[in-house]
Amino acid sequence: MCGIVGYIGEKNACPILIEGLRRLEYRGYDSAGIAVLSGDKIDVKKATGKLAALESAIESCAPEGKIGVGHTRWATHGRPSDENAHPHTDCIGNLVVVHNGIIENYLRLKEELIGKGHEFSSETDTEVIAHLVEEAYNGDLVEAVRKAALMLEGSFAFVVMSSDKPDLLVAARRHSPLVVGIGSGENFLASDIPAFLPFTKKVYFVDDDMIVALDRSSASFMTLDGKSVEKELFEVTWNAEMAERGGYEHFMLKEIHEQPVALRETMRGRMSSENSKITLEGIGLTDEDIRRINKAVVVACGTAYHAALAGRYMLESLARIPVEMDVASELRYREPVIDDRTLALVITQSGETADTLAAMREAKRRGAKTLAIVNAVGSSAAREADGVLYTYAGPEIAVASTKAYTTQMMVIALITLYFGRIRGTISPDRDAELRRRLWSIPEQVDLFLSDYEAVINIAEKYHNIGGFMYIGRGPNLASALEGALKIKEIAYIHAEGYAAGEMKHGPIAMIDPNMATVAFATAGRTYEKLISNIQEIKARSGDIIAIAGRRDEIINNYADHIIRVPETDEMLSPIINAIPLQLLAYYVAKFRGHEIDKPRNLAKSVTVE
Ligand code: F6R
Repeated sequence: MCGIVGYIGEKNACPILIEGLRRLEYRGYDSAGIAVLSGDKIDVKKATGKLAALESAIESCAPEGKIGVGHTRWATHGRPSDENAHPHTDCIGNLVVVHNGIIENYLRLKEELIGKGHEFSSETDTEVIAHLVEEAYNGDLVEAVRKAALMLEGSFAFVVMSSDKPDLLVAARRHSPLVVGIGSGENFLASDIPAFLPFTKKVYFVDDDMIVALDRSSASFMTLDGKSVEKELFEVTWNAEMAERGGYEHFMLKEIHEQPVALRETMRGRMSSENSKITLEGIGLTDEDIRRINKAVVVACGTAYHAALAGRYMLESLARIPVEMDVASELRYREPVIDDRTLALVITQSGETADTLAAMREAKRRGAKTLAIVNAVGSSAAREADGVLYTYAGPEIAVASTKAYTTQMMVIALITLYFGRIRGTISPDRDAELRRRLWSIPEQVDLFLSDYEAVINIAEKYHNIGGFMYIGRGPNLASALEGALKIKEIAYIHAEGYAAGEMKHGPIAMIDPNMATVAFATAGRTYEKLISNIQEIKARSGDIIAIAGRRDEIINNYADHIIRVPETDEMLSPIINAIPLQLLAYYVAKFRGHEIDKPRNLAKSVTVE
């Protein structure tokens, strides 16, 4: 959690740091702060609350200088307050630190440092870094940071600036994201690329246990044991506009509308026409490996976990691979039965989710081959997995995940068909049929997005309802769970996602006129059974909002409202059904007047366990 940014160059640092923080605010927004070297003094400004609070605080007294660091916080140790806001300083204010991560041994370090006479002014774990660097500093800042980093346990990406080094920023990383942006006569450090996209697209991805020394014209890297390292410079294809709202009121709505493009991009290079064979470069598995797999274990959290739940039906029925499902935070503590014939399918938008990374490492340790479906290029999951398939959704800024979800399902569909062919478990006809269907999905999503007045009307009608039940069967159980998650996280209305057949085993007791049910009623092998489940709810005075195929007339007899979606194969229907569930949550939240892109209590990337 938290976003960090650093600038060194010829321009005034303050507006660049603020702009960087604005683009990182999705990572946390409990407080924000910057520090700029003005002459030989470090000027620190902080404010509790969103970045706007910091902007007002510095309106008439913005620090001036050409080197600085900034931070946007998601509190872990110490409540959100000005004292706990970063940057943190050493005892005399000669050096400052911004940090993302958790220092697990900070209490012990803090006691030792207090014993040596250091004075602390916050409750944070981060402040120990400032004092450790101060303790180790004898004029060589890089060496002091290296020594300090060696003493830390836990996760960190931090940047240090010292008042007597006006041409140097030093950063270190372990298990928290850190990227370097190389400009012309100016350089940047940040938790994520969008922070400096308006200034440069040239990027170094910093590895774990690595130190970066950054001046105006160069970046040098070394390992924590002091060996210098040559790194490859990447050129990213995102432009600043792509990371902006592009005219939409919220990032979430923009990202919902980006799905046809994101889905096409995700297919690009892997399928060139509806008849073409699927190729999956980067998968990291030989045909022999694929034939040997006897089980897949899903490693994911939240929405990414739901993508896997939808994909499970495909993988089991078409690739004949048993799929074990558990959220990453449970999987890793469960002593899972994993061996070298297990495929750990790691699904993560950010590639930095702490629980997902820990479970992935555990699966790897037990001998599994790891295949990561990741959106953030160069992220930890992408670098550590044996194989990586990117989702190419572009930056997802809204906290509520949308385009990452549908593209994750798209990649699982591609994997399934690829595996199915190699394992000989899918008939050529079914393979051809599904590839044809898959090819049409971006166009069908586009079609749905061209007219969704029905969703807006339903959202308006129900935005003050007491609760929502989401029901589905088969692959659309995932749609039910995801629908409920989306409504909870941005509309703050209690919602439950249920396997429709389970309703009568308890949850149906909740049905009354103040509980509306969203039923995923697109065609599939349990369609009739779902209709019975809907009737059971109707009989108890519950309103039904059905998501159903365009040609389905049966549903007219049972639903109070119908959202019509383009028809596809049941296996692929969760991709299309995701769009109305996302829009419904978006518009319900909008009618309730919520701040949609940054829902309360949440952060985009959960880099703590
Ligand atoms: C919900 C949401 C979260 C994430 C989860 C995993 O809208 O965004 O549930 O899906 O935190 O994040 P990643 O995919 O980055 O590992």
